Amino acid sequence: MPELPPEMISDMTEKIVRNCQRMESLVKNLLTLADIENIPETNFQSADLVLLIDNCKHLLLSVHPAVHFNFEKSSDKIMIHADADLLELAIINLLENAVKYSSAPAQITVSLEEQSQEVTIKISDKGIGIPPDDVDHIFERFYTVDKARSRRLGGAGLGLSIVKTIIQKHGGTIRATSTLQVGTTFIISLPK
Ligand SMILES: Nc1ncnc2c1ncn2[C@@H]1O[C@H](COP(=O)(O)OP(=O)(O)OP(=O)(O)O)[C@@H](O)[C@H]1O
Ligand SMILES: [Mg+2]
Repeated sequence: MPELPPEMISDMTEKIVRNCQRMESLVKNLLTLADIENIPETNFQSADLVLLIDNCKHLLLSVHPAVHFNFEKSSDKIMIHADADLLELAIINLLENAVKYSSAPAQITVSLEEQSQEVTIKISDKGIGIPPDDVDHIFERFYTVDKARSRRLGGAGLGLSIVKTIIQKHGGTIRATSTLQVGTTFIISLPK
């Protein structure tokens, strides 16, 4: 439609691109979710959680350089039996949420604590928090607290169900505690 004003064409093109990106991310997430159950446990290997979280930190900071990232660990090397790629995907999802649901710059603390039988990973932010009525539902597929905000930010509500599926595949558990306007903490327990 060459007769349209150039600003209108660029505006429309931008909307088309943005929605293609949303669609791409939705399809990717759905495929990941459908596939996790089929990934063989033979992909599980000995992995260092300290290294894994350092990788996630660098990935996040390369996209969001202003983030304040604090990493506390009970020792310099914490080995578990895991599919490192999948665990990284889970942690990145949680870190991206922490950024997405905080006003910039996000303040994130990851703490890693090794006990005799298990390892606890805590990921905390000082973001907008989650209303008490919603916090029990956030791990459900397609669940989002603020539909308008999610639509704007391009979220489908699949991230946390992917995270939970990955943690359960490792025989672990995940839960969230949150206070509105104060922040949110996700607590993961993984068997060693
Ligand atoms: N750290 C957080 N702080 C506040 N709210 C959060 C946080 N993490 C998740 N939520 C809430 O839980 C909902 C579900 O999160 P989830 O990651 O599954 O979906 P999403 O981020 O909306 O979309 P996507 O599929 O792109 O991840 C979010 O829409 C948001 O309302
Ligand atoms: Mg998300």
